[in-house]
Amino acid sequence: MGKSIKAFAPATAANVACGFDVLGFAVENPGDEVTLTLKDEPGIIIKSITGDEGKLPLDAEKNTVSLVIQEYLNHIGSNQGVEIELRKLMPLKSGLGSSAASSVVGVYALNKLLGSPLKDEELLPFAMEGERLACGSAHADNVAPALLGGFVLIRSYEPLDVIQLPTPDDLYATIIHPHVEVKTKDARNILRKEVELSKAIQQWGNLAGLIAGLMKSDYDLIGRSLQDVIVEPVRALLIPGFDEAKQAALDAGALGSSISGSGPSIFALSKGAETASKVGQAMKEVYQKWEIESEVYISKVSQQGPRIIE
Ligand code: HSE
Repeated sequence: MGKSIKAFAPATAANVACGFDVLGFAVENPGDEVTLTLKDEPGIIIKSITGDEGKLPLDAEKNTVSLVIQEYLNHIGSNQGVEIELRKLMPLKSGLGSSAASSVVGVYALNKLLGSPLKDEELLPFAMEGERLACGSAHADNVAPALLGGFVLIRSYEPLDVIQLPTPDDLYATIIHPHVEVKTKDARNILRKEVELSKAIQQWGNLAGLIAGLMKSDYDLIGRSLQDVIVEPVRALLIPGFDEAKQAALDAGALGSSISGSGPSIFALSKGAETASKVGQAMKEVYQKWEIESEVYISKVSQQGPRIIE
């Protein structure tokens, strides 16, 4: 057995209300960890996966992390053998970018282990292929912030044009994960393919407002802009207690709140840690009332993407 590396990649909240498929941010926790070990002979082997309740395939032909690693190795023209140990430290199918964190941590760790033949940002297309395998669509609004940290805008998919945005210092995310299952594929299939012009105008006004708010550290503008008039009204129907939890977050002082990715998690952004934790408590109480188990994650919007642990 050869060299080995251990790395972490963060969870992410995609869409951020008005930026369906084009905006996401990273949080400090939770996330996924991977240990990769170089083998003497070619081939990718998944040695173990923990924290997934046995739900993820150990077959390297079917697993997202191994597929991403294979695509990367093909690209750099290497037949290096790799052994993968994956630790899922966050819930699957939660809207927290679980598949994205796995894809990113795998390709990031291998690139580092091989002496960084590619720059971090060049790893994005491989991680996007992981998303295609996980949910049928190669969207980048989870993988880009998981890889680059902070808020990331995908201005264009063809050609891929990814822009890192500044994050105001005191911006905190609260994310609650109610224990109901929403599959990203289903949550995408229920969306209408056409959008009314009047709704589109509101949506791009809000998206531009949100970006401007981030760039100017204007918390009120961020709050006013955190509105989704296109996707949230449809997907909210898949999440019991959504309207109540969102209202509770706003009443507790959040700047704004919406569905995290394709749900069922719900995020809120707040100014300051104290408000963020009140918001978490308020949302938690809603789900206690609904008798739905949930967990709450509170952290600064993270400026860091993946990192090497050892
Ligand atoms: N933008 C994607 C969606 C994110 O909302 O379907 C999925 O995690």
